[in-house]
Amino acid sequence: MLNIALFGPPGSGKGTQSKKIIEKYNLAYISTGDMLRAEIAEGSDLGKRVKSVMDAGELVSDELVVQILEKKIKNLVGANGILFDGFPRNLVQAYILTGLLAKLNTELTAMISLEVPEEELMQRMLKRAELEGRSDDKPETIKNRFRQYESKTRPVSGFYREMNKCYPVNGVGTVEEIFQRVCGVIDGLK
Ligand code: AP5
Ligand code: MG
Repeated sequence: MLNIALFGPPGSGKGTQSKKIIEKYNLAYISTGDMLRAEIAEGSDLGKRVKSVMDAGELVSDELVVQILEKKIKNLVGANGILFDGFPRNLVQAYILTGLLAKLNTELTAMISLEVPEEELMQRMLKRAELEGRSDDKPETIKNRFRQYESKTRPVSGFYREMNKCYPVNGVGTVEEIFQRVCGVIDGLK
């Protein structure tokens, strides 16, 4: 299996690149952010519990993230592998991922990290706020998402670097240019 975690700060292009990657490499897609937003849209109990946390730009508890992941991971038979977007987001989740993949008799192949400077991230998300109105794309919330990323999420890249599984990719340029860089990394893994 080809199991990839697409990593990077808020607005770095994880969702945008994911769509192209899963199509080209026939991977199942797990985006914890999309799954949480779907729970909110449905008005489920879990959705009600996470809404205020996400609107504040904080991380949802590991326990709730695992709950939605386990729902999804059971239906993954048949794909070439799995692309994770926005997970793992802290060191505890990195260990949880190891366990989840071990249950499927597999492991993470690579973590691909999209590198984009903060000023550009802010511009991208403020533009998206105008177009789509995602409720966590407000300047103060975005700043908190950056803080959460720096303190809790960034250390995850060190965890995979030590395992020689971390591949930084320049995330500035056109969507297609970045996709070509990502494909260069993935094709080099095989
Ligand atoms: P999540 O949904 O994962 O959001 P995020 O990490 O903050 O990142 P975004 O989705 O905003 O950005 P992206 O990197 O996907 O970029 P995109 O392609 O959209 O998480 C949201 C919240 O859910 C968290 O804050 C937390 O509360 C909770 N959560 C989720 N997972 C969790 C977990 N595992 N544990 C705990 N809590 C969790 O691009 C951004 C914009 O830029 C778009 O408008 C796009 O069109 C544009 N764009 C893309 N590429 C380019 C380019 N090359 N040039 C110019 N513009 C571009
Ligand atoms: Mg996203």
